[in-house]
Amino acid sequence: MEIKVVQDAKSIESDILVVNKFEGENTTNELANKYAVEQDNFKGKFGETYLLPTYGKEVYKKVLVLGLGKKEEFNPNKMREAVAKAVKKCMQMEAKKVSFSLDGIEFDYSEQFTMGAFIADYAFDKYKSEKKDNKVQEVYVQANADIVSKAEKIAAAMTFARNLANEPAQFATPTELANIACDFGLDTKIYNKDECEKMGMGAFLAVSRGSVQEPKFIHMKYQVDNPKKKIAIIGKGITFDSGGLDIKPPSSMLTMKDDMSAAACILGVMSIIREFHPQVEVHGIIAACENMPGCSAYKPGDILTAMNGKTIEVDNTDAEGRLTLADALCYACELGVDEVIDLATLTGACMVALGTNAAGIMGNDEDLVKRLIDTADRNGEKYWELPLWEEYFDSLKSDIADMKNTGARWGGASIAGVFLQKFVKDVKWAHIDIAGTAYLEKPQKEFIKGATGAGVRTLLNYILEQ
Ligand code: BES
Ligand code: MN
Ligand code: ZN
Repeated sequence: MEIKVVQDAKSIESDILVVNKFEGENTTNELANKYAVEQDNFKGKFGETYLLPTYGKEVYKKVLVLGLGKKEEFNPNKMREAVAKAVKKCMQMEAKKVSFSLDGIEFDYSEQFTMGAFIADYAFDKYKSEKKDNKVQEVYVQANADIVSKAEKIAAAMTFARNLANEPAQFATPTELANIACDFGLDTKIYNKDECEKMGMGAFLAVSRGSVQEPKFIHMKYQVDNPKKKIAIIGKGITFDSGGLDIKPPSSMLTMKDDMSAAACILGVMSIIREFHPQVEVHGIIAACENMPGCSAYKPGDILTAMNGKTIEVDNTDAEGRLTLADALCYACELGVDEVIDLATLTGACMVALGTNAAGIMGNDEDLVKRLIDTADRNGEKYWELPLWEEYFDSLKSDIADMKNTGARWGGASIAGVFLQKFVKDVKWAHIDIAGTAYLEKPQKEFIKGATGAGVRTLLNYILEQ
């Protein structure tokens, strides 16, 4: 899809002209006012649509009236959702050229318009032998061309992340992620198993041991002269989570190819970062491996030593993400960065607590957490802060090691958070649990079933705003 900024969308020859309608107001289109509003009493409630033919009397073949609800309740996030609705309707009708004539919107809608259009115009059909030919090819709209172009890049990074997270685990292996990371023209270092061993990454390597897939520790670097700030972003990269010897039941294992969604997010961000040339140094870090129950798999009761020398007694091999992140956090803390932000499909508990619309966020710096929540909010994601109270560590206490990896069931997202905190040293840190938001089992808002590219919009905008 391509978005073309024009002066007058109504004069473009198109398959569908989309016009907006606020509740209690008319549209700018006479046909729509006469037939939809007057004759058919179309109210224009948020997300409602109404389709009209033009019988060859106009340069556009049809008019789609798009309800935006009450004007005083309308905002950029609703803009994005509404555009996605309209684009999906257009896809159903296999419209290839769509023009949008938007009127009476009291803010610059360019960014969220673009995001909504691209999020909706998505399918993962590479393994279908018969592909639907329903993508919208051209969109015409009156908007700010610079902002549209910025949003197009962010949307492309999201699509990249969605494609990668939707990819089956048989293809999206640790080695494949490492190869992809090397394609971005960044200064990238891939550490193999032996090199990880030398660095003392005993927690990460233990998780990888049950699989025939070789683990890869990925470090991508975006550098500038005199950076305003240095940030490390880490993504959990479990390319398949079977649970290990504490194997998952089939229904829970079914979607576990998505356990590298956070890694896909980091790769999406790093894939496009150079095009924005932000004045910040950004390190993208992924400890990639599979969690499998092969004959050399790590076992409940094993004691692992992480890169910072802390020892961990394994009380459940399915709490593997925090083990891989432990070493990734130690590594990141040695880079001399100002901030470390990790993302992970970490706990079912976070999903139970917040559902599939919101991610959990925790951290050791209130300002960093607040700024991330605010950035998410303005860009269509929801982050909700969860506590990191000391008490959460109680169930992680071990009689024979410095800590256990799993602990109690209740408060699982925060328990995982305080576990991670033990591997964070002298740096501002935030942890974002995207277990609920990264992968949808049914369509939700702008998204179809499958990967959502969670984190990409927020991280990129956060980096650009430094
Ligand atoms: N990858 C899962 C978490 C997850 C669950 C992500 C559902 C997406 C959807 C993680 O590795 C895991 O297995 N967590 C366990 C932890 C438990 C053993 C403490 C969980 O949440 O059940
Ligand atoms: Mn697991
Ligand atoms: Zn996992």
